[in-house]
Amino acid sequence: MHQYSEFAYIYDELMNEVDYIAWIEYLEQIMAIENASVKNILELACGTGNITLPLAIKGYDIVGMDISEEMLNVAVKKSKEIGVDIVYLEQDIRNLEFEVDGLDCVLCCCDGFNYILKDKHLKNIFTKVYYQMKEEGIFIFDISSYYKLTKILGDNTYGEEKENITYMWQNFFNYENNTLDMDLVFFVKDENGKYDKFNEYHTQRAYKENEIANILREVGFSKIKTYGDFSFEKPKEDTERITFVCKK
Ligand SMILES: C[S@@+](CC[C@H](N)C(=O)[O-])C[C@H]1O[C@@H](n2cnc3c(N)ncnc32)[C@H](O)[C@@H]1O
Repeated sequence: MHQYSEFAYIYDELMNEVDYIAWIEYLEQIMAIENASVKNILELACGTGNITLPLAIKGYDIVGMDISEEMLNVAVKKSKEIGVDIVYLEQDIRNLEFEVDGLDCVLCCCDGFNYILKDKHLKNIFTKVYYQMKEEGIFIFDISSYYKLTKILGDNTYGEEKENITYMWQNFFNYENNTLDMDLVFFVKDENGKYDKFNEYHTQRAYKENEIANILREVGFSKIKTYGDFSFEKPKEDTERITFVCKK
């Protein structure tokens, strides 16, 4: 079973404690600080559209891209229900193909790049983004930090029993290639009260801040800022989410 297949249909329920409204506000604050004039946006690894949909409702012309057909099914369903037209593209961003130049903004939120396991693939993506962005464009993305993947998630087991979903999540950190293997098992209650079980295996790469900054510089980005945990402060040793703000 590939990543974010069956999991797609319960993703939003498991993410219901994430404050996406605050996340959107944070992104817009960054755009304002950078004096970025943003009308069109390409969002990479958009998932079920939790960032995409609110931005489209606010009037941005946004395209969402994701490798998971199932995550996009959920995204399309939500946008149809609300009556907002959004173009969603099913694509592996490691071979990003998007022939629209002059983008105002490219986004990738909530770990999208942690799923890119190899430097060379991250470099491919950054290169493509660099060339598709307009001169004054802005590239904003976040990653779960090396600290979070090694010290908080690494080699830990989590479990939770919710009303309709029970899950176990076992992690194994591999220091040879700095990857975190996550073994997820879900039990989802159907309308008759019977539980269906399924597994997914996810792998995330733990990147150090400077590894990413170096690749960004290599491909040409010259203005790179980093912020820790939704603040406007530099990341600290125990920062869990690092947001990168990049310009040419
Ligand atoms: C944690 S989810 C984040 C989804 C969304 N950005 C959000 O904020 O809710 C990570 C997403 O990355 C996508 N993803 C992972 N590898 C990808 C790849 N190579 N190309 C495109 N999308 C990918 C997954 O399918 C999943 O939807």
